[in-house]
Amino acid sequence: MQNDDTATSGAALPDAGPKKVFVKSYGCQMNVYDAQRMADVLAPEGYVETATMEDADLVVLNTCHIREKAAEKVYSELGRVRTLKRERKGRGEEMQVVVAGCVAQAEGAEILRRAPAVDLVVGPQSYHRLPDLVRAARDARVVDTEFPVEDKFSVLPQPAREKVRSRGVTAFVTVQEGCDKFCTFCVVPYTRGAEVSRPVGAIVTDIAKLADAGVREVSLLGQNVNAFHGVDEKGRAVTFGGLLQRVAAVPGIARIRYTTSHPRDMDEELIAAHRDLPQLMPYLHLPVQSGSDRILDAMNRRHTADDYLRIIERVRAARPDIALSSDFIVGFPGETDADFADTMRLVETVGYAAAFSFKYSTRPGTPAAELGDQVPEEVKTERIHVLQDLIMRQQRAFNAATVGRRVEVLIEKPGRHPGQLGGKSPYLQAVHIEDRDARIGDIVMVEITAPGTNSLYGSRVPGMETAIA
Ligand code: 5AD
Ligand code: SF4
Repeated sequence: MQNDDTATSGAALPDAGPKKVFVKSYGCQMNVYDAQRMADVLAPEGYVETATMEDADLVVLNTCHIREKAAEKVYSELGRVRTLKRERKGRGEEMQVVVAGCVAQAEGAEILRRAPAVDLVVGPQSYHRLPDLVRAARDARVVDTEFPVEDKFSVLPQPAREKVRSRGVTAFVTVQEGCDKFCTFCVVPYTRGAEVSRPVGAIVTDIAKLADAGVREVSLLGQNVNAFHGVDEKGRAVTFGGLLQRVAAVPGIARIRYTTSHPRDMDEELIAAHRDLPQLMPYLHLPVQSGSDRILDAMNRRHTADDYLRIIERVRAARPDIALSSDFIVGFPGETDADFADTMRLVETVGYAAAFSFKYSTRPGTPAAELGDQVPEEVKTERIHVLQDLIMRQQRAFNAATVGRRVEVLIEKPGRHPGQLGGKSPYLQAVHIEDRDARIGDIVMVEITAPGTNSLYGSRVPGMETAIA
């Protein structure tokens, strides 16, 4: 990790009314959450958020390094930013450019070399220092990709109540960061570092504040969220299942979700939580990556396809209506037609409500990048089409099976037309309803009447309100 030129001078920013910050996030939900925390840490410095890059004094690109395509996107965006920065300079206005996130962590000073418009490169562990770093970057370009000793979460400011409310009735909360699993294809253990779990008391306090501001649903985030091993206020060890119990006890929190999980960390307590906690939504994103034992071994997943299927059986025994989702990689080095057929068989066996699939992308510095026997691009393309076709059919079948059923819907936002509202079913399906009485934040009983392309339509069942207030 490098830390060239890091300075933390306290020089004040020139005082010329509110400054505007534009944050663009790529990649996972952790980045969406981090983007909000960056806006929160800059707010006391006088920065207000803007939705357009053109009028921003400060542009933050919160990047993703997981696949090559994601990482390259940032450089094409930086080309555009460079032009905007020049135009602003021509008008006598300043624009500071920050690259944050996992590309920043992985590439550090290389970004300054490739992208002349960039003033500051900051890794995910240093967001609490953003105001100082932005100030320092006015004098000289700065790279900060340290893993600092202080815990950024204890330093990051809480957003104001109105700010939380304006972000909606659902919220992300990071409870764990980093990964110790070292799957051979993955950059996360290098970009996000070792597993760290936040203290339970701090998480519960944050969530109570969110609930107080009107948040009804929290999604607990972590690169390996179910590997959570925190301590409570009395210093006792708490597993992820234990954390879920604590979160479920927060008044006002009606729905809990979590992502993303590893099969090896689906322990008994977590599976029991799916049976015992009505707040825990019946949806589980449990990536398996491949259905072939040979490939799972080469990926260092440390479980077999059969282990995974047994876990699914146990989860379904605990919560029979649970909807399942997964990530898949096709074309991992050495993947044969027979290995791919194993993946297809596993998908057929499980029956997913949704799933993401990716072509294997070589990531420099990962063990799999050193493997021979790379799968040709056209074979990857062929396989991903076949897999996505099956997943799409399963997703449609899952949605079609909801038609005629009654499900609770958390109302999240106004719909496209007046009188229409949009929300989510427990199974993470988007649902549109026509209703003039329900308010955002209500949980209402809805009968699903028709499937749409990516969502469902339904009508409210009057007089049937939620059990969880
Ligand atoms: N190539 C393709 N997909 C990848 N993922 C992680 N690393 C790679 C890679 N090198 C996928 C995995 C993971 C998801 C977040 O991204 O499926 O679960
Ligand atoms: Fe990457 Fe594997 Fe860790 Fe998930 S469990 S973040 S795929 S190394």
